[in-house]
Amino acid sequence: MTVLSRIAAVFAALLIALPAAAQVPVRASSPDGLVVVEVGLDGDGRAAYAVSRKGKPIITPSRLGFLFTDVAKIDRSLAITGQETRDFDQTWQQPWGEWSKIRNHYRELKIQFKETKGLGRVFTVTFRIYDDGVGFRYDFPDQPNMHHANIAEELTEFAFAQDGTAWWKPAFLWNREEYLYNKTALSAIGTADTPVSIKLADGTHVALHEAALVDYSGMAVARTEGNTLRAQLTPGAGGPKVVKHGAWTTPWRTLIIADNAAGLYMSHLMLNLNEPNKLGDMSWFKPGKFVGVWWNMIKGEWTWARGPRHGATNEHVKRYIDFAAAQGIPQVLVEGWNVGWDGDWFGNGWDMDFAKPVEDFDADMLAAYAKKKGVRLIGHHETGGAASHYENQFDTAFKFAADHGYMVVKTGYVTDAGQIERVDADGTKYREWHEGQWMSNHLIRVAEAAYKYRIAIDSHEPIKGTGLQRTWPNWVAREGMRGMEYNSWAGKNPPEHEANIVFTRMLEGPMDFTPGVLSLTGENGSAILSTEAKQLALYVVIYSPVVMAADTPENYAQHMPAFKFIRDVATDWDETRVLNGEIGDYVTIARKERGGQTWFLGAVGDEQARTVAFALDFLTPGKRYVAEIYRDGDDADYRTEKRHAMVIEQRPVTAKDSMTLRLAPGGGAAVRFWLVK
Ligand code: NOJ
Ligand code: CA
Repeated sequence: MTVLSRIAAVFAALLIALPAAAQVPVRASSPDGLVVVEVGLDGDGRAAYAVSRKGKPIITPSRLGFLFTDVAKIDRSLAITGQETRDFDQTWQQPWGEWSKIRNHYRELKIQFKETKGLGRVFTVTFRIYDDGVGFRYDFPDQPNMHHANIAEELTEFAFAQDGTAWWKPAFLWNREEYLYNKTALSAIGTADTPVSIKLADGTHVALHEAALVDYSGMAVARTEGNTLRAQLTPGAGGPKVVKHGAWTTPWRTLIIADNAAGLYMSHLMLNLNEPNKLGDMSWFKPGKFVGVWWNMIKGEWTWARGPRHGATNEHVKRYIDFAAAQGIPQVLVEGWNVGWDGDWFGNGWDMDFAKPVEDFDADMLAAYAKKKGVRLIGHHETGGAASHYENQFDTAFKFAADHGYMVVKTGYVTDAGQIERVDADGTKYREWHEGQWMSNHLIRVAEAAYKYRIAIDSHEPIKGTGLQRTWPNWVAREGMRGMEYNSWAGKNPPEHEANIVFTRMLEGPMDFTPGVLSLTGENGSAILSTEAKQLALYVVIYSPVVMAADTPENYAQHMPAFKFIRDVATDWDETRVLNGEIGDYVTIARKERGGQTWFLGAVGDEQARTVAFALDFLTPGKRYVAEIYRDGDDADYRTEKRHAMVIEQRPVTAKDSMTLRLAPGGGAAVRFWLVK
């Protein structure tokens, strides 16, 4: 039975009479024919879509529609008034990224709807059907009965055909995106941020997310019943969650569908559903690593504020510059360098001035010192959530950064969810959500303001990633999950954390995780729940074009053999392959450096010891390589001091070989494959 005949059967069973003129369901499939979308109407004129793959239903008939705060909802009494399909196949180049070339190959199905009663509003739902999933969005033209849309809720549903296991984090709680993943039955999800990754009962993997979140509020999903999730938009400061004028579009609602976890990661669907680069030249941006005045603050030993323990002093920053220069690390992050950190800055950024250094940070001297050593500083703009105050100083802030030779600025929005301060031109004050419509626009305004000064942005406490780096390629990284900082504090990230986030958070795009704490020590001497080799693996496993070596120079001095991998590892890639993995258990990723011949590989596990084995068929056939392996020592264990036990060894290999690596509890492995000339 096709999905649409199933809709008909379901509605027949409910004894809803189909009108005589009931329309024939619309159907289209992916280029390879395996993913099928069907769209139809029930007897009340309610629209539903369904998705199947390889002949098996994935999404059973699921509703479409909207609630508004001021006019009748869009839901019943719809007619399909037109449909179009088109094929698209183009390959595009990423200025930086995990793959240099991306193929965008889909079949598009556009369906026009019209209300047959009431306001007679019209809209289109566009599906782009890929071999590895589906994206769809709503388009509303400007029309007499809808010049403005005050959206109370989006009624889009995702009714999964089977139960399964889901990895999800809660939405709308005070700590924004920074929660650990829950692993529950799909049928036990509460209200979840996306991406939600699901392993259905039959083993099919699905990731539910969105692409191109622009001028709209972020979509969470709430379970309504059984295996059905429904959109739940992030609130706005006023009544409506989203306000639109004239013609408007939603972000793409996306379903990546794959045979296994690796397939979720390998999909390019989200990037492809974004618009091409609208900024222009990006040749000035060079992916690379950084060290920084940071971990000592996160550990509570130094302060961002002025005083006897101030971190960003001339002396400290020079020491970090010296270390970076000696180790070939191109950048040094400085935090707490500017006026505004004294007192309570959390949720209180109104004193922050991003063109005014404090007395013991001589910006001009340090810029000259760094330049002489071939290093750039990365300036930090912590807004404390005072986003309008930040907008008021965009030009002075980014000019200051450019004048001092910075290529990257890290931003921060440390305040509780729903507490972003927005002040409009007329002085009216609002409290916005990090994931709301206003912030979706604010963060793009940041990227555009920074681009004028050829500055790239790494945003912390951001809105979720939806592939906008394709369109605004200077928005190079973001946080948006619990990163390394949580390993300093009580309630550390558990060993499975990274194996979770590769298949969830990382589907959003680059993350500034800040790996590489080789001392494996957080505040008050507390132990990080990782082996040393795993810290190295994170440089391959967790992607960002700007990657921190987060530990201090003093700590690195104690771990120089391991640090060599951090020095060697690339940060820009021609190719990426996920060789194996299970969500929350383990993953192995291999990447080929951009414009070179060297491959890097990282494998991370969880709290259990395990062995991963894989073919080296990603290497060029007929060539000889040396594999330089950084692996857990035989007795390594994250629960003991043996978490530092690591073996570094070299072995000749070719593409015909395979490799087996034992991962200790809380462990990992990192490998560099260099070509023998
Ligand atoms: C939280 C960020 O994640 C961290 O990297 C930063 O150091 C602090 N906020 C202060 O801005
Ligand atoms: Ca953070």
